[in-house]
Amino acid sequence: MRKAIIAGNWKMNKTMAETKAMIEELKPLVENADCDVVLCVPFTDIQTAKRAAKGSQIKIGAENVHWAEKGAFTGEISADMLKELKVDYVIIGHSERRQYFGETDETVNKRVQAALNAKLKPIVCVGETEAEREGGLTEKVLERQLVEGLKGFKSKDFDKIVIAYEPVWAIGTGKTATATDANNTIGYIRHVLAKKFHKSIAEKTRIQYGGSMNVKNCKELMAMEEIDGGLIGGASLKADDFSQIVNYNK
Ligand code: PGA
Repeated sequence: MRKAIIAGNWKMNKTMAETKAMIEELKPLVENADCDVVLCVPFTDIQTAKRAAKGSQIKIGAENVHWAEKGAFTGEISADMLKELKVDYVIIGHSERRQYFGETDETVNKRVQAALNAKLKPIVCVGETEAEREGGLTEKVLERQLVEGLKGFKSKDFDKIVIAYEPVWAIGTGKTATATDANNTIGYIRHVLAKKFHKSIAEKTRIQYGGSMNVKNCKELMAMEEIDGGLIGGASLKADDFSQIVNYNK
């Protein structure tokens, strides 16, 4: 059985003061959650978030990590730096990184390796753009992102790796894939994992849906067989909304 995982992706939102306030509000609301609860926050909020989340089951993640151990990479953060902050998860290859910051399948692969070396759990994002979807390229794009992005990883690595299927056209737009479409596409991702990696990997890897997931649609999405969780942007910024998603099964 795969344990569900609901993760927030704050993107470039919240100061330290706002971080502390939201997590303090959130803590009592999610104390009986049955799923893994994660908040991926800006680098500058990590320490505050860790402190505020202490004594709760909320795990803290980062939103990116560089692949090099150290060196002349102005503005970047290494996996060891995150490890020292006791970060648990890190988002890798989000479509906004791919779209605005030149992220490729190859750099995704290197970042996942660096994260695993530091014992961080990578949340690897894949998903097609609207044009790719309209061009009938969804499966091809997903297969390429999975095969190239996860190249070289072994079965034990997939105990840590979480995949987030985020159709780019659904992110921040209010458009959600229907629960059936999301379920089918995640089923396809599992098929690729079985074909290109191993059947046991396809069975054990947790795969989230992301893209305008909210209080209203979370129950229906989470009821789907293939969907093991959510990566939540906008709706993770308010304690009330996020806690309702975390408690989708209550
Ligand atoms: P959204 O973002 O929930 O605001 O659509 C999801 C994401 O980008 O991870």
